[in-house]
Amino acid sequence: MDTLVTLPTLPAHISMEDALRAPSRSKLAHIIAVTSGKGGVGKTFVSANLAAALTRHGFNVLVLDADLGLANLDVVLNLYPKVTLHDVFTGRSTLDEAILTTPGGYSVLLAGSGMIEYSRLTPEIRAQFMRTIETLRPRYDIILLDTGAGISDVVLFSVSLATEVLVVATPEPTSLTDAYAAIKVLALQQKRQQVRLVINQAQRPGDGRAITSQLQQVLNRFVTTESGEPLQLTHWGDIPVDSAVREAVMRRQLLLQSMPGAPASLAVAQLSNKIKAALTAPV
Ligand SMILES: Nc1ncnc2c1ncn2[C@@H]1O[C@H](COP(=O)(O)OP(=O)(O)OP(=O)(O)O)[C@@H](O)[C@H]1O
Ligand SMILES: [Mg+2]
Repeated sequence: MDTLVTLPTLPAHISMEDALRAPSRSKLAHIIAVTSGKGGVGKTFVSANLAAALTRHGFNVLVLDADLGLANLDVVLNLYPKVTLHDVFTGRSTLDEAILTTPGGYSVLLAGSGMIEYSRLTPEIRAQFMRTIETLRPRYDIILLDTGAGISDVVLFSVSLATEVLVVATPEPTSLTDAYAAIKVLALQQKRQQVRLVINQAQRPGDGRAITSQLQQVLNRFVTTESGEPLQLTHWGDIPVDSAVREAVMRRQLLLQSMPGAPASLAVAQLSNKIKAALTAPV
């Protein structure tokens, strides 16, 4: 398995209630941040459907809506949460009350939207977020963080909690420029040695491989990680542009369930195979 980033030491204030409820698992979840430079490139679509595909592989998966304040995973999944991460952060509810099961068979922790207090990363939000992840990590095999776009403090903080980073980009030059900017920050600020790239809304087969190699060349020239080696960009797959994606979003259904044979569904399933192989490979 690839080298994992160690989580920072957490301020451990897990309630006795939460600790007692957690099943004893010997392993901690892999935390995969699904992020992007530019917004609207398909992070939430990928997170929601990839989680369903990974669940079919037998993994116990949770998707955490890490786009605090501007979340829309609830909309995509057609869920109406009565309790959100916000209620957990403010102590009004327990974590268990906020975790929902989706039609895809995996769990979600939704953030709710329109909460202005999450536009700035305060020490309190930082501590709450870390505590939440620390409590969840022993309970799942994989936690996907559906983050916001760009390189704001909130986005970079949620990505810093991940053991793996999956950057989603479209082949458009603006998306690629922003992806490069985000990857550069991950290399220099978070000292990441490796980032995975998924090209969504690909127009032609082979798009992603060519884009990854171009971006890698620029990284090799201009970005050196702490180890002195360039950051390694790994192409994790392409998802074709597919009108079925928009249809599923409009109907608020998971594409993988409503149209499992659609080209984008097949591509997400392939991506899940790749992730399974990477996560279960011997160290
Ligand atoms: N492969 C695809 N083919 C066609 N349309 C797509 C594809 N992927 C995403 N879309 C369209 O792009 C829209 C935005 O996707 P999504 O909400 O997942 O992006 P996002 O990166 O999460 O956005 P934000 O940055 O706002 O969180 C979808 O609602 C869908 O209409
Ligand atoms: Mg989103």
